[in-house]
Amino acid sequence: MLTKTIIEPFRIKSIEPIRWTTREEREGLLRAAHYNLFLLPADDVLIDLLTDSGTGAMSTQQWAAIMLGDESYAGSRSFDHFRDSVQDIFGYQHVIPTHQGRAAERILFSVMCKKGDVVPNNTHFDTTRANIEFVGAEAVDLPIPEGRQPATRLPFKGNMDVAALEDLIARVGRERIPLVMLTVTNNSGGGQPVSMENARAVSAVCRKHGIPLYFDACRFAENAYFIKLREEGYAAKTPKQIAQEMFALGDGCTMSAKKDGMANIGGFLCTNDAVLAGQEKDLLILTEGYPTYGGLAGRDLEAIAVGVQESLEEDYLRYRIASTAYLGNHIADQGVPIVQPPGGHAIYLDARAFLPHIPLDQFPGVALAAELYLEGGIRSVEIGTLMFGTAATMDLVRLAIPRRVYTQSHIDYVIEVILAVWKRRERIQGMRLTFEAPFLRHFTAHLEPVRPGT
Ligand code: F0G
Repeated sequence: MLTKTIIEPFRIKSIEPIRWTTREEREGLLRAAHYNLFLLPADDVLIDLLTDSGTGAMSTQQWAAIMLGDESYAGSRSFDHFRDSVQDIFGYQHVIPTHQGRAAERILFSVMCKKGDVVPNNTHFDTTRANIEFVGAEAVDLPIPEGRQPATRLPFKGNMDVAALEDLIARVGRERIPLVMLTVTNNSGGGQPVSMENARAVSAVCRKHGIPLYFDACRFAENAYFIKLREEGYAAKTPKQIAQEMFALGDGCTMSAKKDGMANIGGFLCTNDAVLAGQEKDLLILTEGYPTYGGLAGRDLEAIAVGVQESLEEDYLRYRIASTAYLGNHIADQGVPIVQPPGGHAIYLDARAFLPHIPLDQFPGVALAAELYLEGGIRSVEIGTLMFGTAATMDLVRLAIPRRVYTQSHIDYVIEVILAVWKRRERIQGMRLTFEAPFLRHFTAHLEPVRPGT
């Protein structure tokens, strides 16, 4: 029987209470956190949509695997499980564990990039960009033009602009581009997927110029499922076959296992290049650990070995993508402006369209995120002027959905809260910065309403 209701494809064995606060309490808590939701104690948050990273619930299979963790310093059996599982999906010859995604990025760029180099990506995530800039190279975003327009609906809005990639290579020269990256799904671009056709075209350009292609694979399973749903010729393939086909187009990847690895910590770096792998392992030993654990416990490696496979299960992916779309569609139907179409791991509110009366230098995204907390104890994150300064092309508020954590009634509650804020949007006021750090200011900034006390 094909029903309309898509239920969570699991039942709950262990529960974690969440705490209600009153509106009055939240007003005080928000003031004490200087209107920056990063500074809130998590216990004072009812529904935490700050990130989908490391916040997922593990399965009984993963918890069982954790008990099998082999904590040997070298040659751990858990590493073999981890490597075999990763290779089964990703197909790369060398698998290097790291404590999370950014550690894989730091090692990759330290080995492959030098000052003056240029690294193109559909859209760099902020740690990816920061790690490239840290070695003196330049990170260039090349999304398709529609990727920067919140309201435009396209099935693969995360794609890279292939013509712009060719132009960049012609302009700066192949020798200054040590690698090209493709982020699946495109997180900073709204959690939008990349099509197989686009990955193939990017791969062909890379091959033609002899440039290695690396995937930022954090949300590879969600991307594979979007391809199955939306791209011609893939309906009959499994998400795993689709992921395998995509990774075969590249030379390696970085991965945060805190996303589609279904783990609370971990990551890895893969490559087919034995010389690079050797250099990467040397760096790994310096800061992460011996190459058979790379900053992780044996039990973490076991959890990831199971998790990357579970993320590709069709029942799970059907529910995952449907529940994110459910949130997006229910608020969009009432007129709430969101990045369209709904992405895989998150819904992004378009704060500039939501609060057109708030000037950009009064941080409409921060104001909106603060209201969602005040109204219903929901924590989200601004991705806009506070995060990127005047370089921000959009002011978004991301509602990222942790994997397998919240049920449909939690999401119904989130919808109700957003619609209540939408109704009184004209009365929401802007914010003013009272403290900022010299870099990555969004994590620690202090703000206050432009007219405190109103
Ligand atoms: N690449 C992408 C596309 C990401 O979304 C992230 C993390 C990373 C790399 C870095 O991985 O956190 O394990 O070091 N994104 C999280 C987020 C933090 O909230 O979107 P990490």
